[in-house]
Amino acid sequence: MTDSKTEFEMRLRQSAAETEVMLSSLLSDTCLGDEIARPPHLMAAMRHGSLNGGKRLRPFLLREAAALLGGSSQAALRAGVALECLHCYSLIHDDLPAMDDDDLRRGQPTVHKAFDEATAILAGDSLLTYAFDIIAAPETELADRLKMELVLSLARAAGPGGMAGGQALDLAAEKSPPDEAGIVILQTMKTGALLRFACEAGAIVAGSPSADRERLRLFGQKIGLAYQLADDLLDLTSDAATLGKAAGKDAARGKGTLVGMHGMDWAEKRLDALTEEAVELLAPYGEKALILQETARFIASRDN
Ligand code: IPE
Ligand code: IPE
Ligand code: MG
Ligand code: MG
Ligand code: MG
Repeated sequence: MTDSKTEFEMRLRQSAAETEVMLSSLLSDTCLGDEIARPPHLMAAMRHGSLNGGKRLRPFLLREAAALLGGSSQAALRAGVALECLHCYSLIHDDLPAMDDDDLRRGQPTVHKAFDEATAILAGDSLLTYAFDIIAAPETELADRLKMELVLSLARAAGPGGMAGGQALDLAAEKSPPDEAGIVILQTMKTGALLRFACEAGAIVAGSPSADRERLRLFGQKIGLAYQLADDLLDLTSDAATLGKAAGKDAARGKGTLVGMHGMDWAEKRLDALTEEAVELLAPYGEKALILQETARFIASRDN
């Protein structure tokens, strides 16, 4: 008998491989209908920023949430790949000199280092736009009404009131440190919004009743907060070789983090509490929720 942790690890590995295969085929140099030409250097930069490892946690959450609620696995995979494109865009832009100015991502040179800044900006723009293409395309086997809900939720999660807005607050916080409530808002937006979307989107794909959708959304919100708390702890405790990105930069850049404000002991206790709250939220689903509950535990205990 495999325990749920082993099962989780196997499923995450399998899902990451499937995500990578679909991403790679969607990012080929061959045009889709109505496209005019795909500039090879732009495509190469998009592939560099997305086919480079990564935990592929957001597509995994989306697919597992859809599976829990009986949604189409084909549509969940396509929506997961779309979300991963959008996440990779956020990382490419996050690393730009005008933002966090980082040279290393997923163990490789960042896109603006491997190519140039203008190409990195455009590779990010293209991955962002492509995310919506992948959801709306006829190849995604889902009712138009549900596609529309995915598009709207993803736009809200990624836009000015979500991830991009959170990035704006994160940069502003370097100059004028926010209070605790301000940090929670910026983290809920910059990281939490896409993780919450991942979980809620599983319920959208499944066409679930609003009670399930709300439960998954709350679960996503908890793990979203836990995710950035763990990221901020790892920035302090880990190293570039383990993380595949620079460590020890947040304090130096004056990033607004709860770890910086309350210290590591507090942050570890808060992380445990958030994880338990997330696990508890899925208790009504019984054994069917074991993998998602294990994912919440992984978020708190991961080492990269
Ligand atoms: C990194 O995201 C950026 C944050 C939101 C903290 P991940 O930790 O999911 O990075 P990858 O996709 O696995 O590289
Ligand atoms: C990034 O937060 C969040 C987004 C990319 C939206 P960080 O700036 O802390 O992420 P890392 O540490 O560079 O991965
Ligand atoms: Mg950042
Ligand atoms: Mg960064
Ligand atoms: Mg970080």
